[in-house]
Amino acid sequence: MEISSIHKALFLLQILLSSLLVSSRLKTLKESSDTSLPSNFLFGTASSSYQFEGAFTSDGKGLNNWDVFTHKPGSIIDGSNGDIAIDHYHRYPEDIDLMDSLGVNGYRFSISWARILPKGRFGDVNSAGIKYYNKLIDTLLLEGIQPFVTLTHFDIPQELEDRYGGWLSSQSQEDFGYFADMCFKSFGDRVKYWVTFNEPNMLVIGSYRTGKYPPSRCSGSFGNCTSGDSEKEPFVAAHNIILSHAAAVDIYRTKYQKEQGGSIGIVVQAVWFEPTSNSTADFLAAERAQSFFMNWFLDPIIFGDYPVEMKKILGPTLPEFSSTDLKKLKNGLDFIGINHYTSFYIKDCVFSVCEPGPGVTMTEGFTLRTPQKDGVPIGESTVMDWIHVYPQGMEKMLTYLKERYNNIAMFITENGYGSENNPNSTIEEFLYDVKRVDYMAGYLDALSTAVRKGADVRGYFAWSLLDNFEWNFGYTIRFGLHHVDFGTMKRTPKLSATWYKQFIAKHKIVKSKMQESNEEHFQY
Ligand SMILES: *[C@@H]1O[C@H](CO)[C@@H](O)[C@H](O)[C@H]1NC(C)=O
Ligand SMILES: *[C@@H]1O[C@H](CO)[C@@H](O)[C@H](O)[C@H]1NC(C)=O
Ligand SMILES: *[C@@H]1O[C@H](CO)[C@@H](O)[C@H](O)[C@H]1NC(C)=O
Repeated sequence: MEISSIHKALFLLQILLSSLLVSSRLKTLKESSDTSLPSNFLFGTASSSYQFEGAFTSDGKGLNNWDVFTHKPGSIIDGSNGDIAIDHYHRYPEDIDLMDSLGVNGYRFSISWARILPKGRFGDVNSAGIKYYNKLIDTLLLEGIQPFVTLTHFDIPQELEDRYGGWLSSQSQEDFGYFADMCFKSFGDRVKYWVTFNEPNMLVIGSYRTGKYPPSRCSGSFGNCTSGDSEKEPFVAAHNIILSHAAAVDIYRTKYQKEQGGSIGIVVQAVWFEPTSNSTADFLAAERAQSFFMNWFLDPIIFGDYPVEMKKILGPTLPEFSSTDLKKLKNGLDFIGINHYTSFYIKDCVFSVCEPGPGVTMTEGFTLRTPQKDGVPIGESTVMDWIHVYPQGMEKMLTYLKERYNNIAMFITENGYGSENNPNSTIEEFLYDVKRVDYMAGYLDALSTAVRKGADVRGYFAWSLLDNFEWNFGYTIRFGLHHVDFGTMKRTPKLSATWYKQFIAKHKIVKSKMQESNEEHFQY
C-alpha cells in the first residue's frame, strides 16, 4: 500500500472508532446525570469579527485598533494578522450551512464597529457594512438560528484611538452609545439578544496592564511598553467601559426594547478561583480575586458600585460614579454572558508573604494565582498556558454567580478547547480531536448539574465554530469544531463537530425557521 492509502485506511479506522467513542461518551453522559435542559435552550457556536471576517479594507470598512496593531512587527507570535482571517465575510453562507448541519439554534458573532462606522461618530455610516450584517442575520434566521450579537469584541475604530485615546477618554461613552443606537435601529427588529462588550476584564488587562493588546500600554514590571500606567489606566478604561455599557442599555431600554422585545447583557471572562486551603484568609482571597477580576464589572452594572474589597484596597485610584451614573447603572442588564474555560488556585497575600507572581500586586488584590497545589495541577494542562481542564469549575462558577446576583439569567457565551497547530500534524490528527470532545462533555455535564440545581442558564455557545485567528497567538492555536486549512480556507468537521451535533440532537431543542416569504419584511 502507498503511504496515502495507509493514511486513508487508518483514518477510516479512526472514524469508526470515533463513532463508537461518541456514542459511548453520550451514553455515559446520559447515565451520569439527567441532562434535560429547557427546550428553548440555545445551543450555538461563537465567533468574533476580527478573528473570523477578514476583508479588512473591503467595501468601505475603516481600520480598527487590531488592524493597526497586528501590522506592527512583534505583536503576534507567528507574525500573522486578521487581514483575511478565515474569510467569514465572504464565506458566511457556507459557514451557516455548517451550523445548520450541527443543528444549532443560536450563533454568537460580533459586529465590526469600523465596518459600520469607519470613523466612529466623526464620519459617515458605511451602508455596505450595514448590508453585510443584514444578510448575515437574515440567512441565519432562515435556518432557524438566533443571532446573538456582540457590539464590540476587542475592536474599536482606530480613528477613536488616534483622536482621544480610546477607552481612556470619557468621550468613548458617546461614541459607543452612537454605535449601539445605530445597531439597534438597523438590526434590532430581528436581533433578540444583544451583548454590549465581550470580556471587558480581559480587554482592560491586556490593553492597559500587560500591554499585550492594542494600544500596548503598561508600566513597570507588568510588561514592556513605551508608555502607560498599569496601576491606574486599567481602572480608568474599565470605568469608561462600564459607563459606555450603561449608555447603550439606557438607549436600548428607552428607545427600542419595548417595541423590539429583545434583551441586553454583557459578557465577562469568568475564571473559577478555588481557595488553596480551607483557611479563612484563602477563602477571602478567592473572593477578592473574583472581585478584582470579574465583579469589578458586574457589581457596578448590577448593584451600582464597585466591590467593597476593591474600594478598600485601591482607595482614590478607583474612579467614582456620580449620582446620575448610579441611576443608569442599577440593574443595568438582562442577562450575564459567561466565557468560562478554566480554574486556578488562589492563595492569600495579605496575611502571608507571597513571592512575586500572578495576582500578588496591590492592583490585582494581593492574591497569588497558581495552576497547582503541592505540585498537583488543578486539572490537565493544555497548549494554552491559562487553560486547565477542570469541569467542576463550570458548576462552581454558575452557582457562585447564581448566589451573588440573585439568579439573573445566564448564558455560557464561550467555552472551548485550544489545541496546537503543529505543522507536523496530519489532517487526520487535527480531525480526531478526542481531547476537545472530552473537554466539552465534561463542561456540559457540569453545566447540566448546575441547571438541575436551579441555576437559570439559558444557552451554551461553543468556542468556536471554526479554527480562527487567536489574538497574540495568531494561527498557532486551533479552537474550532471544524478544521480550517488556512491556505485554501477549506472547512472540515472534526470529531467534536459530530459529537456536538449528536449532543444537541439528544436535547430536542426548539428551532423555528423564518419563512422565506417574510424576507421582504426585512429592511436593507
Ligand atoms: C522590550 O521592547 C523593546 C522594544 O520593542 C525590545 O527591544 C526589548 O527586547 C524588550 N524587552 C523585553 C524584556 O522583552
Ligand atoms: C476543606 O474541607 C473540606 C470539608 O471539611 C474537605 O473535604 C477538603 O478536603 C478541605 N480542603 C482543603 C484544601 O483542605
Ligand atoms: C516538526 O518536525 C521537525 C522535523 O522532524 C522538528 O524539528 C520540529 O521540532 C517539529 N515541530 C513541532 C512543532 O513539533
